[in-house]
Amino acid sequence: MTDARDPNARYEDRTARSRELYSRARRSIAGGTTRTSVWFEPYPLYAVSGEGCRIVDADGVERIDCIGNYSALVLGHRHPAVLAAIAAQLERGTAFSAPSEREVELAELLCERVPSVERVRFTTTGTEATMYAMRVARAATGRKVVARFEGGYHGSHDFAQVSTHPDLEAAGDGRRPFGVADGPGIPPGVFDATLVLPFNDLESSNALLTERAGDLAAVIIEPVMGSSGCIPADAGFLEGLRATTRKLGSLLIFDEVISLRLGHGGAQSVYAVDPDLTTMGKIIGGGLPVAAFGGSAGLMAILDPEAAITMEQAGTYNGNPLGAAAGAATMRELSRGAIERLNAAGERLRIELREVFAAHELAVQITGMGSVLAVHFTARPVHDYRDVAAADRALLRRFVIGMLNEGVFLAPRGMMALSTPMTEDDLERVVRAADRVASDLA
Ligand SMILES: Cc1ncc(COP(=O)(O)O)c(C=O)c1O
Repeated sequence: MTDARDPNARYEDRTARSRELYSRARRSIAGGTTRTSVWFEPYPLYAVSGEGCRIVDADGVERIDCIGNYSALVLGHRHPAVLAAIAAQLERGTAFSAPSEREVELAELLCERVPSVERVRFTTTGTEATMYAMRVARAATGRKVVARFEGGYHGSHDFAQVSTHPDLEAAGDGRRPFGVADGPGIPPGVFDATLVLPFNDLESSNALLTERAGDLAAVIIEPVMGSSGCIPADAGFLEGLRATTRKLGSLLIFDEVISLRLGHGGAQSVYAVDPDLTTMGKIIGGGLPVAAFGGSAGLMAILDPEAAITMEQAGTYNGNPLGAAAGAATMRELSRGAIERLNAAGERLRIELREVFAAHELAVQITGMGSVLAVHFTARPVHDYRDVAAADRALLRRFVIGMLNEGVFLAPRGMMALSTPMTEDDLERVVRAADRVASDLA
């Protein structure tokens, strides 16, 4: 008999088809999933369809989609303007070995919105965008080291897979963290060209940066750390890094793959700090795989095929017209007003979730900014990765599975990213679901 309070048993009871698909997947896909970030125990939920802020799983169960493909679906599923743009482009063709007007339109929209970005280049993934941004920085400065923050996530290329979720035993002193490989296979040269910094600790970061000044090509940072737990940079932190990188003659890269949704011109417009290079992804593809990197016309000139020395960038699906059409439609819909409403909904949800957990006397921190938020089971205020690592992961896992059982789909790591179709009623349901789950956890 199923224990009504055991969230795993309840999950397994309702997800037979996902279980079947997962065991079938394990026979052809390594580890049964092609995207580690969507995997969780006992097996991930398989999706069949989505509409607005709802997602339907393989067993026909509908849930409120509170993660929207890890923040990419800012307009929710199947937004009419996005579908119309895709349908119109579908009539004309899906991919050409030639540029199309669609990529020009999306590029113009991004350059208009983000003042520090005068020129962009498209890629298919955020991973490639950060890889190229780092390369532009190395090419522009003639230096090799890219500094990044412990817990920051910049995709899955070799230079990005250092200290995104290090074991704290291996990571050493929080003020001078060691670079720890995210897994096997990262070549030793990567560590030679990487400096790991403590997030939200300007004094220690400045000291470490100054030590490597002669070698330092760039500092890459998410203005609001996403994957490691929606942690905003403290006031003054980004300004401080801006000043230090200028002083040291290195570049500042803002990885806005997630945070672009937080302001009309990205999180950089909210913080009023201009980086030299910006990487973007998720929302700019409107649900299709599109990402980009960009910066001033002068810096990006290195990619000009007419230049004497050109940094090569190719990619079969770069600037893909279907993705660019979906992305442009999304960015047009995502007005200042829409962003303000979405951010206000995020703020309200943070406040109400805090109230719920407090009422159940559970020590929980709700972090985030605007429309992205995360739940951490810890009494310790969360300012960096180490605070997240100190939280109770087993309780978080029970919470996430409990929320799935209560009809709310969120990321296995407790992250949520809201979408414009969410109504007051939807948010209320999320809060009520959290209340029920919290009462089981307390
Ligand atoms: C801040 C950040 N940078 C880069 C990436 C990598 O993007 P992609 O998954 O498209 O390769 C992600 C993905 O979640 C991200 O959150």
